[in-house]
Amino acid sequence: MAEILKADKALERALALLEAGEVVAIPTETVYGLAGDATNGAAVGRIFEAKGRPRFNPLIAHVADLAMAERIAAFDPLSRKLAEKFWPGPLTLVLPLRPDASIHRLVTAGLDTVALRMPKGFGGELIARLGRPLAAPSANSSGKISATTAEAVAADLGQKIPLVVDGGQTPVGLESVIVKVEDSRLKLLRPGGIAADEIEAAAGVPLVRGHNAAIVAPGMLASHYAPGAAVRLNASDVREGEALLSFGPARIDAANAVALLNLSEAGDLREAAANLFSHLQALDCSGAKTIAVAPIPHRGLGEAINDRLARAAAPRDMPLP
Ligand code: TXA
Ligand code: MG
Repeated sequence: MAEILKADKALERALALLEAGEVVAIPTETVYGLAGDATNGAAVGRIFEAKGRPRFNPLIAHVADLAMAERIAAFDPLSRKLAEKFWPGPLTLVLPLRPDASIHRLVTAGLDTVALRMPKGFGGELIARLGRPLAAPSANSSGKISATTAEAVAADLGQKIPLVVDGGQTPVGLESVIVKVEDSRLKLLRPGGIAADEIEAAAGVPLVRGHNAAIVAPGMLASHYAPGAAVRLNASDVREGEALLSFGPARIDAANAVALLNLSEAGDLREAAANLFSHLQALDCSGAKTIAVAPIPHRGLGEAINDRLARAAAPRDMPLP
């Protein structure tokens, strides 16, 4: 079973494990990450193995500063502007990989692009001390809900990894937003922890929606982020045997619900994002066959929340259209 250490006491132990090519679960501002030295092929292989993740699905390389990022990837002016505005933070940039970059090719699954992010807090400090980038997907078994607490990581991956660093509940609660500049347009590959309109305002150009055409990866599969229970979206009632995940002031009669949780009684989308994965997980454990989910407005972080909910609700193992 993994050792669990509080973040303020874990830095040296985490460093020693990473130096030895081991993997460590760490808190970031978005979700917990399963981190390994991105320059060490054996360490990166351990990440794929622990998650049960197909090797054609590339990982995000996490950096401590812009200088480290620029040694890995070639920045265009717009990507640099976004990095300067949002890093450290929940923004991932997909950029052309430098041929001489030291990261292992398993990280990028052989693509000629690389996904880069600079995390806040413990992760940033750890990378700066290590002096090398960390590859880190979300710390959950492939296809399952991302973990927003150390307990959720330990319950899922505790048998497979040596250390979980406990930084408490992750504040954003959704994975980073992923964007890519392509043919001088700014593309949204995955909505996430920064609302699209905030990125557009900083970029000064519109974000083009579309699927991540570069790869056919499980993150792009409709059924990614699936709990064990079925999920029914835009619910206006609670049916026999259902749990209810609501949002805003109570409008749905929940008297029959097996269990009831509210993403945000105040109707605050930031609070809802922070609660999304832990509430889904809790309702999944309630014994309900189906989780009914109240409608979530599509503005701001609602776009990313609805993206994750649509994947949780989709028929399992079906590719997105
Ligand atoms: O907030 C986050 O982004 C968290 C924390 C731990 O940093 N990480 C995370 O990693 O969500 P992961 O592996 O669960 O999701 C990364 C996504 C995958 O869908 C992968 O396919 C995509 O990024 N990706 C990675 N490299 C890519 C590339 N070169 N081109 C396009 N998509 C890429
Ligand atoms: Mg993930």
